[in-house]
Amino acid sequence: MAEETIASVLVGETAGVLPLPKLAREGDRLEDVDTPALILDLDAFEDNLRSMQALAETHGVALRPHGKAHKCPEIALRQVSLGARGICCQKVSEAVPFVRAGLTDILISNEVVGRQKLELLARLASRARLTVCVDHPKALEALSAALDAQHSCVDVLVEVDIGQKRCGVQTHEQAVALADLTLRLPNVRFAGVQAYHGSIQHTRSFDERQRAARQGAAAAAGFVDALRQAGYACEVVTGGGTGTALFDAASGVFTELQPGSYAFMDGDYGAMEWGEVIGLQHALFLWSTVISTPAPGRVVLDAGLKSTTSESGLPHVFGHPGLRCTALNDEHCIVAVDVPQASPALGEKLRLVPSHCDPTFNLHDELVGVRKGVVEAVWPISARGLSR
Ligand SMILES: Cc1ncc(COP(=O)(O)O)c(C=O)c1O
Repeated sequence: MAEETIASVLVGETAGVLPLPKLAREGDRLEDVDTPALILDLDAFEDNLRSMQALAETHGVALRPHGKAHKCPEIALRQVSLGARGICCQKVSEAVPFVRAGLTDILISNEVVGRQKLELLARLASRARLTVCVDHPKALEALSAALDAQHSCVDVLVEVDIGQKRCGVQTHEQAVALADLTLRLPNVRFAGVQAYHGSIQHTRSFDERQRAARQGAAAAAGFVDALRQAGYACEVVTGGGTGTALFDAASGVFTELQPGSYAFMDGDYGAMEWGEVIGLQHALFLWSTVISTPAPGRVVLDAGLKSTTSESGLPHVFGHPGLRCTALNDEHCIVAVDVPQASPALGEKLRLVPSHCDPTFNLHDELVGVRKGVVEAVWPISARGLSR
């Protein structure tokens, strides 16, 4: 629905609508792309995809990249074609455009509670192989009932809390009780555990992050052992984001990694210590125009909070060390010019590095793929806004 509305406005198909110019067309030079635009450097992006895939393969674990990072089926198809087992989605509605685009193996890496969501999930499960997290017996019962009504089945992962203090069962006994319940309910099959620790992903120091990831993996192993002793083998032990993938892959505990941001390397991830082990690079940029040069030492860009977010800090100007973002307003980015010779001219276009990729993708309809300064593709961000 969102796609149809956007497309019809862009090409002016709706009677009486003044068509908007296209953001970009294949073959355009980057300089001619309108702003603000979300730009993907395809060379850097493809290198990032290959690096994470190689990391997973080196350690014999599966890669299941997170679709919530980009919400773009074209990206997911590329991740799978390079060897990813499937993708994750965080919400049921988010999975719909991915299933429509032909993705066949999706983990809903989250709890699903509520009639409409369960009905949609049960319908989707007849079109793709779905796996779902649970952390409460009532949620598992409701899931099973919804699936039964649609004659579809899913694999179930018990979500276990390994320190994040978000969702997930707290004790080994609760995990075993949920595994037991899968045996008594129709249409659900116990497949293992999800053990994701979000709060350590952005720990700046490599050593501290490694220590925390080891503790998390040990906690996950405790749950897996308790389940094994109760007679349940965990085929799947999934978790790990961009920040801990390196450690989780080598832990011997996880069978699957679910990083999302690695493909883009936003400003926050770019500021972390990586120990030179995995060469990920900035691939996602916000293309913006200088719309005002009101005073010496200050210029203003046309990309604000409606084009990128600031909960992880302000964006930074890529490739211009003398320029520094100092504030984001709704539709303006204020930039301090620390080095007078670096001051950009009115109309000049600059690349900003968003500080947090996931919510930034959610603000854009289209992603402009650029290689060596030329637009190679314009991909719809079809799952944007789908948070139900
Ligand atoms: C359950 C789950 N898995 C994986 C990820 C991916 O994390 P990242 O984008 O930091 O790689 C997230 C991100 O919040 C998440 O919530």
